[in-house]
Amino acid sequence: MDSVTFTSNEFIELKTLVYQICGINLHEGKLELLKSKVAKRMRLTKMNIHEYLSHLKSNEHEVIEFIDTVTTNHSFFFRENESIEYIVDHFNRNPQKAKKQFKIWCAACSTGDEPYTIAVQLENLGLSYTILATDISHSVLEVAARGIYKNDKIKNVPKPILHKFFQKGVGKYKDHVKIKKKIQQQITFKKFNLISDIMKQTDFDFVLCRNVMIYFDNQTSEKVVNKLYKSISPNNFFAIGNAESLMNMRHKFKAVKGMASLYRK
Ligand SMILES: C[S@@+](CC[C@H](N)C(=O)[O-])C[C@H]1O[C@@H](n2cnc3c(N)ncnc32)[C@H](O)[C@@H]1O
Repeated sequence: MDSVTFTSNEFIELKTLVYQICGINLHEGKLELLKSKVAKRMRLTKMNIHEYLSHLKSNEHEVIEFIDTVTTNHSFFFRENESIEYIVDHFNRNPQKAKKQFKIWCAACSTGDEPYTIAVQLENLGLSYTILATDISHSVLEVAARGIYKNDKIKNVPKPILHKFFQKGVGKYKDHVKIKKKIQQQITFKKFNLISDIMKQTDFDFVLCRNVMIYFDNQTSEKVVNKLYKSISPNNFFAIGNAESLMNMRHKFKAVKGMASLYRK
């Protein structure tokens, strides 16, 4: 079974559920993708379409498994690194840096490539930091916590950083690297749904929410952006993805001059 047939009402039911739980706006163009993903989940859960739809409605975990297959978890090391480089340099110029522990939140961290990218650059300068890395998806967080990556994910990592903070795999892991423990220890991976969870911490120096709002509609993105605003301490920073924009939203961030996807509280 490679695909299933469902009625337009069933498609609307699925779309509404996904939107309510994770904010992702599935459009008609996703119908074929959706059919093949539903077929895959039906195969794994051994249910027919009606059973699967009612199971989905009563089981948030299944919805998350399901949206895992509808969203992309695509990420890689040193992706869109300009804004990260800017912040690392800004932290490094802080006169209090010897005493300060910089607090960072990667709010849709996927498989961990992004938080590790920040960590290795801060570590390389001897700066002190902690990173909270969150995502809605349990499966990507497991990959992130393991810290083992295929070589094609690390193509953009500068050689000196690669040698310093990654171990080469051997045997069946010969095409992989593992991030060193020292780096892993600075990062806490945790499940957090940007739509429904509440962040109590309000003193982050840098919050990133990159390449996830492209799946949200404007109204949902605006809510998320204003929620994240509260988690950042005064004068500190917020990064979005290069393909994203805060242009049509009401928010209080100020754009950082010359940095298209970086904002300041
Ligand atoms: C394309 S990845 C972005 C990874 C990384 N930030 C980057 O730019 O490379 C998008 C991630 O957003 C996560 N996501 C989708 N909806 C979410 C939500 N409501 N709350 C938290 N994370 C969500 C997905 O699970 C996925 O891992």
